[in-house]
Amino acid sequence: MEKHIVLLPGDGIGPEVTKAAKNVLQAIADRYHHSFTFESHDIGGAAIDHHETPLPEDTVKAAKKADAIFLGAVGGPKWDQLPGHMRPEKGLLGIRKQLGLFANLRPVKAFQQLLHASPLKQEVVAASDLLIVRELTGGLYFGEPRERRNNGKTVVDTLAYERSEIERIVDQAFQSAQVRRKHVTSVDKANVLESSRLWREVVEEKKHQYPDVTVEHMLVDAAAMKLVTNPAYFDVIVTENMFGDILSDEASVLTGSLGMLPSASLNERGVGLYEPVHGSAPDIAGQDKANPLASILSVAMMLKHSFGMEEEAEQLEAAVQEVLDEGYHTADIDLVGGTVVSGSELARRVVDQ
Ligand code: NAI
Ligand code: MG
Repeated sequence: MEKHIVLLPGDGIGPEVTKAAKNVLQAIADRYHHSFTFESHDIGGAAIDHHETPLPEDTVKAAKKADAIFLGAVGGPKWDQLPGHMRPEKGLLGIRKQLGLFANLRPVKAFQQLLHASPLKQEVVAASDLLIVRELTGGLYFGEPRERRNNGKTVVDTLAYERSEIERIVDQAFQSAQVRRKHVTSVDKANVLESSRLWREVVEEKKHQYPDVTVEHMLVDAAAMKLVTNPAYFDVIVTENMFGDILSDEASVLTGSLGMLPSASLNERGVGLYEPVHGSAPDIAGQDKANPLASILSVAMMLKHSFGMEEEAEQLEAAVQEVLDEGYHTADIDLVGGTVVSGSELARRVVDQ
């Protein structure tokens, strides 16, 4: 198969983990006789430095033509003082919006070898295997107005949703559940928020189209607690943009590190942007310490969701498993025993596998 992949390395450890993703993709192409071509573009802080905007027109154009997009991470202290519309994060929010990437899939699965790396009890973590389906282009992060008023003494953010926006993400969650353990937990704050009440209504309507899936509602505060006391309880969690952002970082403790969590963001045409859940980690950037596995597992999601390459994706996940089995990991994984290696070495070991 021929596939054209746009790489958006971004900032901090973004370029390091993007390199790992590219090397793994090349290895898959060589092994399975595919032809993958690559094209890199600036986004975030790097784009601000080179083009005075966090999201250059060229980047959007290239992304729209790609078969799939891989993004590293954006942001860092260098750009923190810039005004809101010029911040690196605007590049990321902008590309999600421009490509209509409304569905963010974040699988969270504890690897057997890393159970000790979680601060939670082993028996709590062991059976966790869940998928967070986060709405990505609406809600609190996009609602207008957002402004300071009254000489800066009053501030307004807006949580707005169209019914159709809720419908399509809820459909995605039910469909994801159908190929998993067939249980959806819809997370909201319906005791306080009007948007959550509409969210519940939509879920209640939609569930009749998916009779094979069971569904329940849970308030976000209760869900936050259950995620660390009984994560195995969950199969698919579907939720609003900000709730999903927070819950997925919380869920990273199950995997032992934020550096283990992959994600896929899909639009209605099935075009996907794949990125690790973590940020640009300025504290370790440029030191070859970044854990590449979140990115490599994101590549596995790309192979599966955008290219329909099930076998290749499984092989890649098995290679990650094998490297962990051999005891190799990066320094972010807090384990006694095993061998700590650099990010590039860990990625090379996955490629060798
Ligand atoms: P972060 O995810 O960059 O880092 C949090 C902690 O986890 C740090 O101690 C970091 O060293 C560690 N970490 C993260 N990824 C790692 C990896 N692959 N390997 C080893 N350790 C890893 O979040 P933080 O520090 O809150 O934000 C840093 C910058 O990243 C900010 O500018 C923020 O806006 C941006 N950011 C960007 C995101 C994106 O591009 N999708 C998402 C989250 C934050
Ligand atoms: Mg986040």
